[in-house]
Amino acid sequence: MEFSDRLLFWYDSHKRILPWRTSDDPYKVWISEVILQQTRIEQGMTYYSRFLDAFPDVTSLAAASEDEVLRLWQGLGYYSRARNLHQAAREIVKKQDKKFPESSKQWMRLKGVGPYTAAAVASIVFREPIPALDGNGYRVLSRVFGLSYNIDTAKGKTRFFQLATQLIDPKRPGDFNQALMDLGSMICKPFRPLCQKCPLNETCLAKQQNATHHYPVKNPKKAARERYFNYFKITTKDRQGNNIIYIKKRLENDIWKNMYDFPLLETSAEISTEKIFQHPWWLQLFPDDKAFLMLKQVRQRVHKLTHQTIHAKLFQVCADHEHTDLLNKKFIPVKIDQFEQMAKPRLIELLTRVQEK
Ligand code: ADE
Repeated sequence: MEFSDRLLFWYDSHKRILPWRTSDDPYKVWISEVILQQTRIEQGMTYYSRFLDAFPDVTSLAAASEDEVLRLWQGLGYYSRARNLHQAAREIVKKQDKKFPESSKQWMRLKGVGPYTAAAVASIVFREPIPALDGNGYRVLSRVFGLSYNIDTAKGKTRFFQLATQLIDPKRPGDFNQALMDLGSMICKPFRPLCQKCPLNETCLAKQQNATHHYPVKNPKKAARERYFNYFKITTKDRQGNNIIYIKKRLENDIWKNMYDFPLLETSAEISTEKIFQHPWWLQLFPDDKAFLMLKQVRQRVHKLTHQTIHAKLFQVCADHEHTDLLNKKFIPVKIDQFEQMAKPRLIELLTRVQEK
């Protein structure tokens, strides 16, 4: 049997039963592919059903506000993907009269749709014979064929794409792509692969060389950037006597763009409460000792992202309501339960979550 026959034969009896696999709806497959680029299947399924409950079709997604979309995405990270998904939905509704693209080339014209997503949707829904290789696919191919092309380089990716183009079954391109994903995640795992159960073990070069751990070849990991975030949860009362906190919308072009968080002082190293009182950033907000009634550190956590490690502290500040003019100019005053409904970085959620006893 050929590579793809063995692979598909295995897939037919071992494939994972996943909600988007029972549907030919391009919207559902597209959403699933974007979510699964961020997270594992188990967590992805939860996000997928919540997302589809809220936005069952492209029209409802296009009609949503960006805040609503980000709120549902909260915790998945890479929020630019959610923003792009939302914009692409609007393009489909407005410019293409709700008609989905069919070919991978057309899919790539949509905001944020890269070669992987385009190929995945076009092969699964429209049967275009084009490989959609994720990390699992690269791992399987590099091991079975003993290939040392670096998957972090454009050249390496092209080589694997060319190989997969030769191997793909033109009658079942979507299944071929998903079979590589399932085999990579269930059997040909990064560590301790289950070679005994693998349908390709007779011809696998990495197995013959006892060298599965050498594949795939990647760039060495860069050290994560260390950052120090000091967040201030400033509470006060407004004129009507409501308890309020100050928040801000993040406008910087980073992963948390357009989400809401607290006033933030980023420092180059850890900073003590005493040093905060002398910091120009603090003095600008509270030039006068009487402007605040209390400052204390209430939480601390280390938050690891792909390329950065954030050492975060949360300080609680009570501001005197007579002295909030400056704060009102710089930040947005909201009632506490209002903030709970807003899209915020996962770090803020974790720092403010009421601790379970
Ligand atoms: N990871 C990304 N897309 C997937 C799919 N369609 N099936 C399984 N795993 C995936």
